[in-house]
Amino acid sequence: MIKLLFVCLGNICRSPTAEGVMQHLLDQAGLAQQVLVDSAGTSGHHVGEAADERMRSHALERGLELTSRSRKLVAKDFQEFDYILVMDQSNFDDAAALVAEGPLRSKIHLFTDYCLSSRVSSVPDPYYGGEAGFERVLDIVEDAAKGLLAHLKTKM
Ligand code: 4NP
Repeated sequence: MIKLLFVCLGNICRSPTAEGVMQHLLDQAGLAQQVLVDSAGTSGHHVGEAADERMRSHALERGLELTSRSRKLVAKDFQEFDYILVMDQSNFDDAAALVAEGPLRSKIHLFTDYCLSSRVSSVPDPYYGGEAGFERVLDIVEDAAKGLLAHLKTKM
């Protein structure tokens, strides 16, 4: 079993979307029994909340229901999960601060490094922006999730 944890700041916009998109791809590929997905936030400001209403509504337009509840990233997650997939450099730094340099910290990867066609170095935070930001999250996340799935298949 490969375990993936998607991480953003609030765990109400980007990482719940990544979790939902990846789960959908795994279901379609018949790999849901072999790969587990979850998501968490570095801040803890929205713990217990459902995904942002705007994010859920844009995801639903693409047939994707986001059902996760926000939780905070904790050091123990680095023992539990194989890949910690962060949305931007700030998430990277906040996650890295939870564990010592070495094998646990090296589980952190920028999710956009798996993009197949998008030339981006982050999934931009849509929280304080307009509707286009939420579409952008979905576009980048769908691209990166496909690339990540292709990568995982080489490991199985
Ligand atoms: P996320 O978006 O990190 O993609 O879940 C955000 C959600 C909430 C806040 C910032 C970003 N906030 O400042 O409350």
